[in-house]
Formats: sequence, structure tokens, C-alpha cells
Amino acid sequence: MLKAVRGTKDIFQEELGLRQRIEAKACEVFTTYNYQEISTPIIEELDLFQRTLGAHSDIVSKQMFVIKKDKDNLCLRPEATAAVVRAYLENNLDKEGQLYKFYYMGPMFRAERPQKGRLRQFSHIGVEAIGVSGYYQDAEVICLADSLLKNIGIKDFEIKLNSLGCAKDKEKLAELLKKSLKDKLSSLCTDCQNRYKKNVFRILDCKNEICQETVSRLNLANQHLCSDCLDNLNNLKSLLKSLKINYKLVSHLVRGLDYYTGTVFEITHPALGSQDALGAGGRYDHLIKELGGKDTPAIGFALGVERLLLALPGPQVRSKSQQRINGVYIAALGARAIQEGFLLLDILRKRNIISEMDCRDLSLKANLRRADKLNFRFVIMLGDNELQKNVFILKDMLEGTQQDLPQENIVLELEKRLKS
Ligand code: HAM
Repeated sequence: MLKAVRGTKDIFQEELGLRQRIEAKACEVFTTYNYQEISTPIIEELDLFQRTLGAHSDIVSKQMFVIKKDKDNLCLRPEATAAVVRAYLENNLDKEGQLYKFYYMGPMFRAERPQKGRLRQFSHIGVEAIGVSGYYQDAEVICLADSLLKNIGIKDFEIKLNSLGCAKDKEKLAELLKKSLKDKLSSLCTDCQNRYKKNVFRILDCKNEICQETVSRLNLANQHLCSDCLDNLNNLKSLLKSLKINYKLVSHLVRGLDYYTGTVFEITHPALGSQDALGAGGRYDHLIKELGGKDTPAIGFALGVERLLLALPGPQVRSKSQQRINGVYIAALGARAIQEGFLLLDILRKRNIISEMDCRDLSLKANLRRADKLNFRFVIMLGDNELQKNVFILKDMLEGTQQDLPQENIVLELEKRLKS
């Protein structure tokens, strides 16, 4: 039998409903913060990510889904930040010198070894604020992530915060890391021994337990930060405190992508196990220039939708699914009733009332079982008897009550009850 590709999944019914609710809530929160939607293509030039994420990042070195087509070297996008910046430059938005605040939702692709919370096709909900530097913008983005997670109903997440500092500070941090890791090299995995020479930052996001333990014992204490960057971090910390946003300063947090400088953050959740990041983000003040634009500061984050689903509290998931569809199922018995019912179905749908009917001449019991399984709040029942009396029986599946109603009143009556 043909199967879905490993690390991808079919999404329907309850999970699809939950995802749609998360996306709707995200749209609401993003709009409140005055972010506008952007949608970029799923395929991009491979070069875009090779130039921006870093040759030694896990994504570029081993996780790209590459598509070779004639002379083109394309790929499935592994993330959206570089793509949004490409779109910003290609559409000349940089010429207008304004602040652009974008949000996006959609599938990303990374050829990873699948496990809980780690897929090869997964979805991001993210934002990119392009054009403003400083700790107020950093605080807005972190506050937005915090507010979104709370609105979705996720509890107990932790925001981990750090600053890589400006480009010079980042170089200093690399030196500092090399110095602190020099005498611990033999205890690191062979990949990390290579990373030490090529890009020492990548040691900090190695998934190997021994490497992680070594890294967690490093005491970097923001020694690499110049006075401006340290002030920025301190101002951000006190602003977050005033906004009552809990965070933890983690001095070895660097993030797995090369484009970051300045503020970086990661949001973790204990329900996720080893892949514990719900989302992450940070500043990428040099990326726009690197891609050919003017020097333009920017910051953003992305949340992984599949991980949000894992972190949602169980009872909430269940109670949502138990909620009845605020609509009506028509149970028609016999050929004439089926025809009348089918015409009524059309009227209801044109009045935007969610409605369904099974035209297979089922028994009443089978019809009611089906209405219950489909989770409808109301059922309209009709057979020869009702047709003769010119009535419909309206059953409320939630209350367990039923009532005969004149046929001509049914739409108005239903509309009234669906609103209550
Ligand atoms: P990232 O940390 O690579 O950042 O991905 C963000 C989130 O996507 C992760 O925290 C995780 O929740 C989810 N995620 C990543 N890989 C997978 C996977 N294989 N399966 C399931 N979920 C996954 C970025 O992509 C940056 N573009 C974020 C950003 C936006 N920085 C600035 N602006």
C-alpha cells in the first residue's frame, strides 16, 4: 500500500479543527498588534538558505529538500525568515523606508530523522518586524509570542532569553566559547570537534547529551557584550518585567541559524520531551544587507504548530471536541420525505446554517446514530406522518428535547435557537 512519506502526516477531523482554531486565534492576536499577513512560495532558490542560515547549520548541511530542475537549484523552504526578507527586497519595500510587520503561517520542510515533535513537513506560525531596532521592538515581539501562547491556552511555557550582541560581540563570544571549550574538546562528539574549527556556535545546539551537559556548565555570563548591547539587554529585561512577562536568562542560548545577532529567545515546554522548543526567534540586523538591501534592523519568531498541539492541555482538547456542531442534521424517512428534506437542506445551506443529510433511506435509529456521531446539535425529523401534518420534528441533541414545528416556521425557529 502507498503510504505518506516518513515524517509527514495527513491532517483531518479533530486535529484539523484544532489547528484551524490556533490559526484563527493567531490571526486575531497578530491583527491586534498591527501585523499584516504575507504569503511566500513554498519553493525557493537553494542559494537563499545557503547564504543566510549558515553552511554549517544543521539545516543547510543535512536537512534541505533539494529539487534540481533543468538548470535551477531549488528547494522546499526550511523556514520563512529568509524568504520574507527576499520578498521584502524583491518587492522594493525597502525603498519605502517604513516599518513592516508581517505574519505568516504555512508548511516548512526539513529532512530530519522523525520523532515526537520532529517532522519533515511541519507548520510555522511566525512574525517578522522589519525596520526597527531597539529593546521596545524586541519587547513587542516577545510580548506578542507570550500573548499568543496564552490566548491559545498553552500554560507552563518558559521563555529563555539571551543576547549575542552586535557583530563584534558575536566574534568575541566565538572566541570566548573556543577558550572555554578548548580543554573539554575530547569529551565532545566528533561532529562538535569539527564544529569547534568551523563554527563554534553550532556546538551549543548539538543534541548529544554529553555535549549539552558540557555546554550547560559553561559560564559565559554575557562577558562578550559591549556597553551598548549590555544596556539594550538590561533595558529589555526591565521592560519585560514591567510587562509581567516571565523569562529566564540563559547565557549559552545562541540559536541554530547564523543570521542572528543581538536579542535571541527560545520558548520551551516540559510536555515536549527532547524536542522541547515550542518556538524561537531573535534579531537578524545584518541579514537584509547581506541579501543586497540597505542596513535594516529586524526581529521575528516562529512557533511550530505540531508542538503547540502537543503542549495543549489534554482536557481542553477533549472538551473542544465534545462541543456539538451548531447546526442541523436532517433525518428523512421514505422517498417523499427524502426529497422534501433535500430541498430543505438547500434552503438551510443558503441561509448559512451548517447542515447535513444522509439520502440513503436509513431507519430513524440509524439516522440519529449518525447525527450523534457527526456531533450535530439539532436534528430535523420527517416522515410521511409529518409531511401529512405539515410539520417537522425538531430535536435538540444537547437538551434531549423535541418539538413539532410548522414547516413554514422551521428556518426562523432554527436561526433563533442556533444563536441562543
Ligand atoms: P527554528 O528554531 O528553526 O527557527 O524553528 C522554529 C520552531 O519550529 C521550533 O522552535 C520548533 O517548534 C519548530 N520546528 C523546527 N523544526 C521542526 C521539525 N522538524 N518538526 C516540527 N517542528 C519543528 C526558525 O525557523 C526561525 N525562522 C524563527 C525566526 C523567525 N527567527 C526570526 N524570525
